[in-house]
Amino acid sequence: MRRHARTLAPELTDKELASLLDIIRKMRFQGKHLEIGTAAGGTLCCMMKVFEYHERPPFVVVDPMTYFQDQLNTVMKSLQNNGVPAEEVDFRIKKSSEAFIEANQRGESFEFIFIDGAHKIHYVTGDLRWTRLLRKGGIVCLHDYSSVRGVTLAADRFLRKNSNYEKVDCVHTLLILRKTRESSTPEISLTDRIWASALAPLLRLDIFTKKFLKNYSH
Ligand SMILES: C[S@@+](CC[C@H](N)C(=O)[O-])C[C@H]1O[C@@H](n2cnc3c(N)ncnc32)[C@H](O)[C@@H]1O
Repeated sequence: MRRHARTLAPELTDKELASLLDIIRKMRFQGKHLEIGTAAGGTLCCMMKVFEYHERPPFVVVDPMTYFQDQLNTVMKSLQNNGVPAEEVDFRIKKSSEAFIEANQRGESFEFIFIDGAHKIHYVTGDLRWTRLLRKGGIVCLHDYSSVRGVTLAADRFLRKNSNYEKVDCVHTLLILRKTRESSTPEISLTDRIWASALAPLLRLDIFTKKFLKNYSH
């Protein structure tokens, strides 16, 4: 069983968590806040607790809830332990790719997006599509930037191609970006997705080769 499923703690380091909460506190957005990938809900509870009950903006969580056994109940327990009513969370128990299509069709918008789902390059690139629904001035954070190659490559390409996003900060592996103006075209194109799908098996092979060499070099 994953350690965080037992401890119900956030999967962020203390410094990353402090920066994430700082930016939420500073921006005080009233629009929807989204977390893609919640694990045991540790970070979710901390983000929600930034706000007093009566002034809390809507929180949306997208997660297929198959990370560990009984994940959804674990998240519920986490919320209860933190005094956060579960009804205040709009759970979308599905993959980010499916949830994005539905949210896009509904014309939803968000002011704060925290991307921390599957870390393979094609998933991260897919998750970055949600920035289409991010309001101007909104914040998008990515976890495991610079520590996981899939996240780093996807985020770097995103930044190169979307000059209307500025880097606010990068604390350990938490990258914080701000959307400075509306995008004239979707942030993630079909070409970006093809690029990510083509790179994914190469990155897998690279990881496999490194592990293999490590095991057999002794
Ligand atoms: C690294 S954990 C998230 C940690 C959490 N944000 C925290 O700070 O404690 C990754 C999460 O992503 C979820 N996940 C995996 N694939 C996903 C997908 N395709 N769409 C959305 N979430 C996904 C997993 O179920 C898991 O809960």
